[in-house]
Amino acid sequence: MSSPTFTMSLLSLFLFSLFVLIAQAQVPANQTFTLVNEGEFGPYVVEYFGDYRMLPEIFSSPFQLGFYNTTPNAFTLALRMGLTRSESLMRWVWEANRGNPVGENATFSLGTDGNLVLADADGRVAWQTNTTNKGVVGFTLLPTGNMVLFDAKGNFIWQSFDYPTDTLLVGQSLRAGGVSKLVSRASEKENKDGPYSLVLEPKGLFLYYKSIISKKSLLYSQFTNIQQGTLDDVTLNSATDDGFVWDLSLLSSGGNDLYLDRPKFNGTLTYLRLGIDGNIKLYTYYGQVDSWEQTFTLFDRDSNFETECQLPERCGSFGVCEDNQCVACPTSNGLSGWSKTCAPEKLTSCKANSFHYYKVEGVDHFLSKYNRGSATKEVDCGKKCSSDCKCLGYFYNRDTSRCLIAYELKTLTKVANSTHVGFIKAPNH
Ligand SMILES: *[C@@H]1O[C@H](CO)[C@@H](O)[C@H](O)[C@H]1NC(C)=O
Ligand SMILES: *[C@@H]1O[C@H](CO)[C@@H](O)[C@H](O)[C@H]1NC(C)=O
Ligand SMILES: *[C@@H]1O[C@H](CO)[C@@H](O)[C@H](O)[C@H]1NC(C)=O
Ligand SMILES: *[C@@H]1O[C@H](CO)[C@@H](O)[C@H](O)[C@H]1NC(C)=O
Ligand SMILES: *[C@@H]1O[C@H](CO)[C@@H](O)[C@H](O)[C@H]1NC(C)=O
Repeated sequence: MSSPTFTMSLLSLFLFSLFVLIAQAQVPANQTFTLVNEGEFGPYVVEYFGDYRMLPEIFSSPFQLGFYNTTPNAFTLALRMGLTRSESLMRWVWEANRGNPVGENATFSLGTDGNLVLADADGRVAWQTNTTNKGVVGFTLLPTGNMVLFDAKGNFIWQSFDYPTDTLLVGQSLRAGGVSKLVSRASEKENKDGPYSLVLEPKGLFLYYKSIISKKSLLYSQFTNIQQGTLDDVTLNSATDDGFVWDLSLLSSGGNDLYLDRPKFNGTLTYLRLGIDGNIKLYTYYGQVDSWEQTFTLFDRDSNFETECQLPERCGSFGVCEDNQCVACPTSNGLSGWSKTCAPEKLTSCKANSFHYYKVEGVDHFLSKYNRGSATKEVDCGKKCSSDCKCLGYFYNRDTSRCLIAYELKTLTKVANSTHVGFIKAPNH
């Protein structure tokens, strides 16, 4: 490895805690990390705890860089937001090495070659900025939460804002030709890619659910859908005219801006997150009162955009959703009360004589809203599902004669019109 100027060791001391910071000392908000010779630690205070070497936290109020783990000895290098005096209010807003955690004694170092590297104790590189020999002279964390590597002229050679995972901070963008999507986290425990993505496309911002069975990304919502021109970028923005009234929006260079909400106070410290459940929420931190407010929710009972019933997994693996609630579990014996255990019956075989269908009236599939399906006769829709082993059921709209083949059942949305029917495969016993 090239000469490290700062090295962070993961302390077993902290391994028991869920979210840990790696060092105790603070550096001034605008402290920059400059290249120094190996063995020197330049401007930093180095603390020793037993045999472990620690380095000051990289800090720019209210952002801090640190490591966290949600499973033992699997650490993610991440930025968190909030004031240190209220540990429970910390939120992780950017991360380097999703899906590729490091263990104890991992090192995080900026080499004299200008490459920022996160490596395991055995030298395995888990993550790097790929900025070798690009003129990098220093590293800093800006008060916006953007972590940058800069050259002698102060140009940013690399910035964390260009690499979002599931979160956008104010000033951060998705762009065509760069990172153009957010991908959800798999679960609270597992920090790897989940099934949901928010994708910037020429005609809008679209939400997809990746089916495990079909491997396809299925459209479940359109956050924005533009009529004029193309969408080349979106940037989370917080603005005020008078310092009192703030607006949160997604701005685009082509002028297709989307207003989101009005926070109570200064909205500068806001982030947008694509959650584990596929919902999009904005959270705003009010530094003066040290508290967070949920400032926007895309799928919500009060939303102008979508209800919760449009979330693919609102009702878990199966259920009928009405007015934001899971109200029924469809079974071959009719509808029963919904609970988390509601699931379609397991099929034993895909031979035509091994299953039958049962009918659920007055429902749409969660995909029906944005996928028109094919124009087919009802009987042919059924045949299509029967001949497809992966098909778990089909949904037919008798008004429009549209057929939707379902590889995932999940949430069915209740509709007033009984001309919308679902047919669910069930095994013959
Ligand atoms: C860092 O901040 C201090 C006080 O906030 C200021 O005096 C100094 O000029 C700043 N340095 C840089 C490099 O921005
Ligand atoms: C971490 O470093 C300490 C001190 O050098 C050592 O005792 C320990 O075995 C190391 N752990 C791993 C997993 O390398
Ligand atoms: C660095 O390059 C590797 C290999 O091409 C790539 O997988 C990784 O995403 C790059 N890192 C960044 C931060 O772009
Ligand atoms: C809003 O908050 C940001 C971040 O704390 C701060 O830098 C900015 O000065 C504030 N703006 C106003 C008008 O209060
Ligand atoms: C069902 O849809 C048909 C055709 O679109 C319409 O004529 C009818 O009024 C609808 N019924 C209800 C209860 O909405």
